[in-house]
Amino acid sequence: MAKPRIVYQCSACGGQSPKWGGQCPDCGAWNTLVETRQTASPSPSGPPRHVGYAGAPTVQSMDDVELREEPRTSTGLDELDRVLGGGLVHGSVVLIGGDPGIGKSTLLLQTLALLPDLPSLYVTGEESLQQVSLRAHRLGLPTVGLRLLTETCVERLLDTASTERPRVLVVDSIQTLYSESLQSVPGSVGQIRESAAQLVRYAKQTDTAVFIIGHVTKEGALAGPRVLEHMVDTVLYFEGDPGSRYRVMRAVKNRFGAVNELGVFAMTEAGLKPVANPSAIFLSRHPEPVPGSVVMVTREGTRPLLVEVQALVDESRQASPRRVAVGLEQNRLAMLLAVMHRHGGLALFDQDVFINVVGGVRVSETAADLAVLSAALSSFRDRPLASDLVIFGEVGLAGEIRPVPNGEERLREAAKHGYARAIVPKANAPRHEVAGMHVQAVHRLAQAIELL
Ligand code: TYD
Ligand code: MG
Repeated sequence: MAKPRIVYQCSACGGQSPKWGGQCPDCGAWNTLVETRQTASPSPSGPPRHVGYAGAPTVQSMDDVELREEPRTSTGLDELDRVLGGGLVHGSVVLIGGDPGIGKSTLLLQTLALLPDLPSLYVTGEESLQQVSLRAHRLGLPTVGLRLLTETCVERLLDTASTERPRVLVVDSIQTLYSESLQSVPGSVGQIRESAAQLVRYAKQTDTAVFIIGHVTKEGALAGPRVLEHMVDTVLYFEGDPGSRYRVMRAVKNRFGAVNELGVFAMTEAGLKPVANPSAIFLSRHPEPVPGSVVMVTREGTRPLLVEVQALVDESRQASPRRVAVGLEQNRLAMLLAVMHRHGGLALFDQDVFINVVGGVRVSETAADLAVLSAALSSFRDRPLASDLVIFGEVGLAGEIRPVPNGEERLREAAKHGYARAIVPKANAPRHEVAGMHVQAVHRLAQAIELL
């Protein structure tokens, strides 16, 4: 086989250059040239250049397309099945990202151990086989039939996989892999992209389910090129507060299921245990009401979840006060505070504002807006809110309170956990009374502030 030619491709404009430089000769961008293997001109027998389901090209009318569900296999962990969209899809590639020590390796090791009917292979470039087996024994996992391999070269890895023929392949982690066809070091953008492309091609050609573990950067994004997320079918983030025993798995992309679906696990000596009814585990349950704490009902994926939003508003000692949001989007916080000033008449220019969602949960939906502002207000005034109150609603730039999906379901969930009062958007006021719940519906921010 001819040695593949190496080119340096600009990640900004796509231009190619034969040698590396700090600046792209085509578009002038800095630090964008990435080592790339140039595929030879396409030959009919060569590997498919396009990753995906493209089979023989035929045009069909939509009525003739055979409708069948993707066959799925249960992973043995209900919560993992849930985030995957109902179980493992053969031939799919799942990328799992998370901080070091969060439990990624343990989760997948445990999944393979619980899948005795399917031949599987766990490939690690991070730990020795002894470390992996020690952990499996410590966790008391059934280890019969668990096949392990240490390998960091992706070509050799896939060679072994082709002879072993696993139906489920775990690769821990993509950052340790390298391809012989490139000269850059493992973990570099070019290497990550090339290794992932080979794994994806292997999965599609052999109908193997592949799990790829990926590290995240300090900012919480998956390390490596953004295209990595586009290449795979499913991207899951494994998150959690290091101090808490609960871990949350979130689907941020899924070709075979709902995004933002959450799976909740508890860490135990025997590995991760699915938490079937996670609704109220993330609340801190203060013995008496404290200022700056608000409970909201979020609905991530397909079920409601009660979470606590905490705020600390304190006089700033800096010229530009700090705005810090953990578990929520930072820019949204700045926007909400501006709305509160303009439409609620409350200025926090000289105050630092810190917002945190308890338990390491991330809330990505806008239904948190009203809870965030209520928590900030409660902390600013140093006045606790009632402990049996839940708040949710989106806040618009014009100071209006917008409805959120599934309002009634959220209220019922809150009532089930003993909450008796709610402040919600006008359009979410339930048509039929929710038992044990006194609902106050608001349509302007000023109205909500008055109620608080
Ligand atoms: P590990 O899976 O190695 O994390 P990652 O691969 O994300 O870096 O887990 C870190 C440690 O926690 C490891 O020593 C095993 C331990 N652990 C348990 O004891 N029980 C559990 O349920 C989990 C998830 C981890
Ligand atoms: Mg690990």
